[in-house]
Order: sequence, then C-alpha cells, then structure tokens
Amino acid sequence: MSNIGSYEVRLKDFNWSISEKELGYKPGNTLNIGWYCSDRICLQGKGDKLALLWESSTGAEKKFTYHDIRRASNSIAAFLHGLGIKPEDRVCLFMDKVPELYIGLLGILKTGAIGQHLFSAFVDESLFVRLDNAQTSAIITQKKHAPKVRKILDRLPRLKHIIIVDYDGKTPLREREVPFSLEKAVPIDHFDVYPTQAESPSLLHYTSGTTGQPKGVKHVHYSLVSQYLTSKWVLDLQEDDIYWCTADPGWVTGTSYGIVGPWSMGITQAVLDAGFSAEAWYKFIEKYRITMWYSAPTAIRSLMKAGNEVVKKYDLSSLRHLASVGEPLNPEAVIWSERIFGKAFLDTYWQTETGSIMISNYPGMKIKPGSMGKAFPGITATVLDPKTYEPYNVTGKIGLIALKPGWPSMMRTYWNNEEAYKNKFKNGWYLTGDRASIDKEGYFWFVGRDDDVINTAGHLVSPFEVESALLEHPAIAESAVVSKPDPINMEVVKAFVTLKPGFAASTDLELEIMNFIRKKLSPLAMPQEIEYVESLPKTRSGKIMRRILHAKEWGEEIGDTSALEND
Ligand code: PRX
Repeated sequence: MSNIGSYEVRLKDFNWSISEKELGYKPGNTLNIGWYCSDRICLQGKGDKLALLWESSTGAEKKFTYHDIRRASNSIAAFLHGLGIKPEDRVCLFMDKVPELYIGLLGILKTGAIGQHLFSAFVDESLFVRLDNAQTSAIITQKKHAPKVRKILDRLPRLKHIIIVDYDGKTPLREREVPFSLEKAVPIDHFDVYPTQAESPSLLHYTSGTTGQPKGVKHVHYSLVSQYLTSKWVLDLQEDDIYWCTADPGWVTGTSYGIVGPWSMGITQAVLDAGFSAEAWYKFIEKYRITMWYSAPTAIRSLMKAGNEVVKKYDLSSLRHLASVGEPLNPEAVIWSERIFGKAFLDTYWQTETGSIMISNYPGMKIKPGSMGKAFPGITATVLDPKTYEPYNVTGKIGLIALKPGWPSMMRTYWNNEEAYKNKFKNGWYLTGDRASIDKEGYFWFVGRDDDVINTAGHLVSPFEVESALLEHPAIAESAVVSKPDPINMEVVKAFVTLKPGFAASTDLELEIMNFIRKKLSPLAMPQEIEYVESLPKTRSGKIMRRILHAKEWGEEIGDTSALEND
C-alpha cells in the first residue's frame, strides 16, 4: 500500500498541518532541520537504525546509524562554533559525495548557520561568483579541491576558514586552512542546537538564470514541512526502504531529497560516490538491495543506451518504486523502465526555487507516459496565457507554468537580489519559466523552457555566464550561446563566436576554447560545439538574438525577425 493512498482523497482534505502534526511541530515552535534529521529520529528510538550506507568509487564502505549522524553532526557543529561561525553565516560544502557532504549540512544547521552546497566540479569563476555573492564565511572541502579555493582566496576577504576534512598532515596547511576529521573528532553526545524558527534561513542554492550571474535561492527551515510530506507521498518512502537518490547535493534534489526528506523520515539511504556507469549502478542496487530509486532522465537514457543485456547480469528485484526529476522524461524511458525493471519511473517536476516536488505522478495513479502528472495536494498549479498572465479557461493550450505562492518550501528570496525575485511574480502567480499544457484530466505536459536557460543532463546552464566567460578568451570578439539537441543529455551547450582580427578559425582553437570554459566554469558549462561565424544576429539596439540561433539548431520556425539589425 502506498503512503499517499488515494490522490483524490488527499486533495480534498489537504492541509499542510498534516505534515506539521506528523513532525510534531506547532507554529511558533523552534524548528531546526539539523535536529529533525538526527536527534528527533534518535528520540523516536531509531538511533541504531542505519541512516547512511556509503560507498566510494574504489569500493570502500562506511556505515552510519542515526546515533552516528547525530553525534557526528554535533561534532561538526561544535567545531564550527569554536571557529566563531554565527547564526546565518554562510558555510559552503564543497566536496565529492563523501559522508561529510551530507552530515556536514546537519552540523551547519545546528549552529544556526546557512548551508551552501557547491558542486565539486566547479572551478575558478563558478566557485568565486557563488562564494563572493553569498559572502561565505567558511568552506568545508577535501584536500583535492583545496587548490581551487586557494586560487581565488585573494578575492574573497570574507572567507575566513577553509576546513579540510581529509588532511593527512603531510603538506603544510596554507593561509586560513584548518583540518577537521570526522573520524578523529570526539563524538559529542549533546550540542545545544540553535533555536532556529520556521522562517530562519537554512540553505542557499545557486541556480542559473538567463541574465546576470547565478542567483542564490534562499530557503528556510520551514521547507521541511513540504520536503517531509512529498518524500512520504511521492517518493513513497517507507520504514524498511533502502533509498538511493543519485543527485549530488550541489543541486537541490540532492539536499531536499538526498538529505532532508529521507532523514527527517528516519529512512536508510545509500550513497555512491562515483561517476555514472550502468554496471556500477546496477551492482550498487543489487548489493544494497535498493528499494526506492530517485534519478534523472539523462541517467535513465544512458542506462537504456547501455542495453538490456547488462541488466540481466544483476538481481534488481529489490526495486519497489522509481522516480525521476530534472528534465523531460520521454515516454520511451517510462515504457522501457516498466518493461525492464517491472516498474515505471514516475516523473516529478519542480525547481530549486520551489524547494520540493510541485507536479508529479503518484504511486497508484494512472500514468500517462510523457506527462509530468498532477499538482501535489496543497499546490495550485496552472498554465497562464503569456499575453494576459491569466489562467486559460480551456484545456490543452500551451502556456506558462505558474504556481500560487504559499507552500512551505517556496524560496523566500534570491540572495541580495530582491528585484530578480519580484520579477518572478505576475498577477499573484509565481512564474516557473517553463511552458506546458494541461489536459482534461488535469495532467501537465511539459513543452520547454520559456527562456534561454539550457538544461543539459538536468543541470541548468546560463547562456549569459558562458558568453561572459568566452569573451575573456583572447581570440573571441563576440559570442552567443544556445542549446543544441542531444540524444542522451537532451540538450548540450553550443557556442557561436566571432573572432578578433588576427585569429583564424581552426579545430585546435575550438578545442582550446572548450578547455578554457571547462577550466574557468565547469565541465557542465563547456560547449560541446563551437561554430565560427562572421557576425551574430542582433536587434537594432545591438542585443544578440539567441532565439534565431536556437531555432536553427532545433529546426524550428525562426518566427518574428522584425527587430533584426540586418533584415
Ligand atoms: O525546466 C524545468 C526542468 O528543470 C528546471 C528546474 O531546474 P533546477 O532548478 O536545477 O531543479 C532541478 C531539480 C528539481 C525546471 O524549471 N525540470 C525539472 N523537472 C522537470 C523538468 N523539465 C521537465 N520535466 C520535469 N520533470
């Protein structure tokens, strides 16, 4: 029996107090996610239950019970406290998927500070921009990533502490560096958890927009109320589950459903700190008897590509429930998973800004492959006419996906950018920036983004950020960045560039430019193709029209070009 039972019944009597009651939270109480995800579970008598099963790429294993993560997060909190970290200070977690990346967040939250996960593949500029914007006080990292921090340290006077979790004592520590070892730290049984309130900030997640630098989405401790209930009703987490969320906590899926959701429910979760390979993934499921698997369309398409023969080598019979997020889940992937695993991946739709699942397929509900499903109880979702910002009064029309603000995990603002936050609302609706239609039965059908943001393998890339970085290359005069179709990643980054006098187009230069971006931003933002052009299409006011380049890549109608400079 699924946790949600009947979707219709849940819809009728819905109130967020259902979640508050289960969490034992009353409005006005203190609310600290760090405490909820560890101490509270122990107080419920589940301290000896496994919280985390961890495996590295080389097969090393670690296991943590709820007592372990409670004490370990206390140790981290006490350590941060000792360094002088204060409530609402930003503390960044910049590591591979090591246990500290997960438990560390609980420690940060227990001090009242704000957790800021950044993907460990970020380099120089990507890292700098996000640490600078957040005015981060401390960064918790591994020795292999410390050189990247050292490189930008001069430009980050507010970054006082670089905490290295695996310092081996061999090379001398540099300026502002301090070691902390979870294994060597004395486990602390009691830490005075800072009494954060519902509206106290908890997390800062950076996401890409069309213009400007990445924006820091500010979440608060009350987001727990959404994350807990969606973990229960959509991910259908149950007492005996072994849950695997494949997302890195550098992205919101990896925190909302890779830390907060499962641990606030007292669930055992497994983490594989290794890159993608079909064999390794199936082996992991078999070894840990994974029952609930939350992943992403690109991974599913990669598994499909790896073929059905490899599946047969493993016993995947433990799988009970599968879900997906981050990009459009094509109907073939749904049908394939049902055929191969005996269970269909259920699509879920949400964003960094929404903090929790908004639209979804629910266990037990009829699946329409290719549809994202229906709004979560308590969420009012619709599509708006892009001209009037009013909901359509007929079904089937493509419009802007909009949500009525007011659910617990809605972002509270963009960090230091209230104006960008305000621009996300029209007519009392929060605009997601996506387009869809709704059918007669209330199912949402995703169409695409309503802006130029590129979704490559589930990661949002800002064309602006890549264009700005390209302009720093000595050979490039102008640049325009758009998405290009790709069978596995759905979209990849493509750059159009004009060269400065004295530079000639060549394959070597193309590779050099790609590498330049990889080293400056991250492998995700690296263009997969560079096209040299004589000039870029521009409006009469000189603004580059990415829309035209995008339409060409996707074989679409170019549309209105009346603003074009050279027509
Ligand atoms: O465009 C939508 C796409 O990913 C965007 C949100 O990305 P991010 O903030 O990084 O959060 C991703 C994980 C929650 C959305 O605006 N997206 C997300 N889920 C889906 C999706 N596109 C299609 N189908 C989905 N299920």
